[in-house]
Parts: sequence; C-alpha cells; structure tokens
Amino acid sequence: MNVLETQALTQVFDRSQSAWLRRLTGAAIDQLVAVDQVSIQIAPGETFALVGESGSGKSTLARMIVGLDRPTSGQVLLNGEPFNPRQMSHRRQVQMVFQSPYASLNPRWRVQDILREPLQAFGLRKSGQDQAARVSELLDQVGLSQSDGARYPHEFSGGQRQRISIARALASEPTFLVCDEPTSALDVSVQAQVLNLLKQLQKDLGLTYLFITHDLAVVRSMAHHIGVLKHGQLVEQATADRLFADPQHPYTQMLLDAAPVIA
Ligand SMILES: Nc1ncnc2c1ncn2[C@@H]1O[C@H](COP(=O)(O)OP(=O)(O)OP(=O)(O)O)[C@@H](O)[C@H]1O
Ligand SMILES: [Mg+2]
Repeated sequence: MNVLETQALTQVFDRSQSAWLRRLTGAAIDQLVAVDQVSIQIAPGETFALVGESGSGKSTLARMIVGLDRPTSGQVLLNGEPFNPRQMSHRRQVQMVFQSPYASLNPRWRVQDILREPLQAFGLRKSGQDQAARVSELLDQVGLSQSDGARYPHEFSGGQRQRISIARALASEPTFLVCDEPTSALDVSVQAQVLNLLKQLQKDLGLTYLFITHDLAVVRSMAHHIGVLKHGQLVEQATADRLFADPQHPYTQMLLDAAPVIA
C-alpha cells in the first residue's frame, strides 16, 4: 500500500478584487488554478521528487499534502485512509522540512526546547528524563552534539540549523516527510552533507519522502520517482532512471537541457 497518495488534488486561488470594486472598474473575476488535479502515489521507503519551475505549484501542493492548506477539491490519502490534519495520529505521521531553517525555528527557544515541544504536544514521552533522553537521541541522529541542545538557533550555521529542523521533524516519529527545497539556501558542500543525512535517515528509519527541488543534480541523487509540474499540472511522471534516460514531455526535456552540466 502507498504511504501517501493524492487523488486529483486541486487548489484554486481567487485573486479577484472585491465584488463592489469589480462593479466599479469592470474587472473580471481572476482565479488561478495553482494545482490542477494532481494524482501521485508514493510507496513506502521511497523518495518522490517534484520538479518544476518557480511558480509551477510545488509548494502549494506540499501545503495541501501536510494539511497547512485545504484543497479546493480532490483528496490526500495516508496509508490508504483519507488524511485528516485535525487527527493527532495523522498529524504526527506527516512532517515538513522548510527551505529556510531560520524562519521556521523559534529564535527565543533553546534547541532542546524546540525538540521537546513536539514530544509534549503529541504526548510521546511523559517524564522529563525520557524527554531529555529522546532529545539526546535526536541530536545524535542528525549529527549534532549533546551540548548543542543548550544553544539558540542563531548560534548555528545554515547547515546546522537545517539539521535542527530535521531533528524537530523526526521528533514526532513520522513515517512521511515533505522536504520543500531543504538545501537550496545552503552552499554546495553543505548541501551534500544534508542530502546524505536525509538519505541515511531514510534508510535507518524507513522514511518516505516527498522532495521538492528545482535542482536536477539533487533530484538525481535523491529520487526513486519523479513528477514534473508545469502550471499546476503534472505533465510527466516516471522512475528517476527512465525520466533522465528518456524524457517524454517537451517541458521535461527543456528542464534537463537547461540544467548546468557539472564536470
Ligand atoms: N496564498 C496564495 N494566494 C494567491 N496565489 C498564490 C498563493 N500561494 C501561491 N500562489 C500562486 O500560486 C502559484 C504557485 O505558487 P507556488 O508557491 O506553489 O510555486 P512553487 O512551484 O513552489 O515556486 P518556487 O519554486 O518559486 O517555490 C504562483 O503563481 C503563486 O503566485
Ligand atoms: Mg515553493
């Protein structure tokens, strides 16, 4: 069974002016179909990479999948059941890692408190001692040291901050992680370390990923399956090997041709 599936998932944004302004100016209703009936399936332990140019709807799709935004139509299935973000057990299983680790970490909290919060929110470790042990384990899993727990987010480099974000996402023992451009704010050498960490965690914990990026070198190193999004529509979807060897859609060919060749 698929860990995650979307069925004709659609998001329409209404960008119209208010009704009275439209009457005044004669402006038409302005709706944007940001995600148009997208259906994908992600098998256990796999990475599905979503690629497409800026504005193609990647983040909008991700936000619906993790329950941050309600779809206009269509649905998300988690382990074959309709995903309900109001249900604690569903929310616990689906976590997101954002592009900018600085914006997504509370600057006034020590790292140990950032990691402890989901444990308390989901009731995963009751005693202070169990929580502290779990925080240590999480720091260890993402390659940070015990003493890092007492520090604040601004005391870390970008790559280390992204490790903290990953640790926080892991705190609730998720099965499925959405990573929206998790390394695009980092420089190249640090990118590789964070990608390797994500791959190692996938192997160790059996995680399933939806991985969003417009960097095809990243896709190549991470993805089992790839979906290509253009103006909100999924124009092609294939295994990574097939897509790179034999792209079918002209837009996919264009993306591959446009990618810089790193010698
Ligand atoms: N809340 C919103 N209200 C209105 N329009 C929106 C909203 N969020 C996104 N959009 C529009 O939806 C389209 C898709 O945006 P989205 O952020 O999903 O693109 P993206 O593929 O993630 O781009 P990028 O690679 O730059 O992150 C864009 O045209 C964007 O302007
Ligand atoms: Mg985006």
